[in-house]
Amino acid sequence: MKSEGMIELNQELFIAAGIYCECYENPSNKHECIKIPLEGKKASKRLKEDISYYAKLHKRKVSLGYVADYLGECQTSLGKGYIYECVRDYDLAVSRRLQHYLDTDDIEKDVLYHKMEELAHYLLGHKILISDLHARNILIQLSAEGDIKPVIVDGIGDRVAIEFMNKLPGAVEAKITRRWNRFAQKVMGGRALLPSK
Ligand SMILES: Nc1ncnc2c1ncn2[C@@H]1O[C@H](COP(=O)(O)OP(=O)(O)OP(=O)(O)O)[C@@H](O)[C@H]1O
Ligand SMILES: [Mg+2]
Repeated sequence: MKSEGMIELNQELFIAAGIYCECYENPSNKHECIKIPLEGKKASKRLKEDISYYAKLHKRKVSLGYVADYLGECQTSLGKGYIYECVRDYDLAVSRRLQHYLDTDDIEKDVLYHKMEELAHYLLGHKILISDLHARNILIQLSAEGDIKPVIVDGIGDRVAIEFMNKLPGAVEAKITRRWNRFAQKVMGGRALLPSK
């Protein structure tokens, strides 16, 4: 039986999967995708933590230019789903992962690293913490003019937060810089680093 407002998902709408969830196109809106947590408590817990961090960002009215926004919950034929902005290129193809562009020469590395540095400064400037920075959680959006923009689709927030520590002056910035630079060392050979104090 189909219930009112239930979104029917099928393999044709499947975009990609990570370890914790599967991502589908919203059949009624190409610019939205629906994440379905895979079996197990941990997947739902992680998604809920991400969502509570989005609530904080919404409250702070942070501009989400480089982060795919969270839009709300829904019921689907595969269970409860979480709706996000879907990151697509100018030709409407779902944007590819940073990992793809690191593995290929589709985009000149200097251009790619320069844009990644912009992303790092955006995160620092808006005090946005990322707990799970890796090359499959960032998509590279291509524009018709040949411009590119990295967009974070997963892993925002601070999973290991000791809340009061983040209230100390400069603590959040230091954490963002530390995490970013660890990531930049690992996947970009130390390019696009943030200056550490
Ligand atoms: N907003 C989005 N727009 C387009 N594609 C997306 C979006 N969100 C996720 N994807 C695709 O789906 C994949 C899996 O999504 P996501 O990273 O959220 O899953 P996960 O299981 O939490 O990942 P991880 O294995 O990193 O924990 C991503 O790597 C990306 O390819
Ligand atoms: Mg992921």
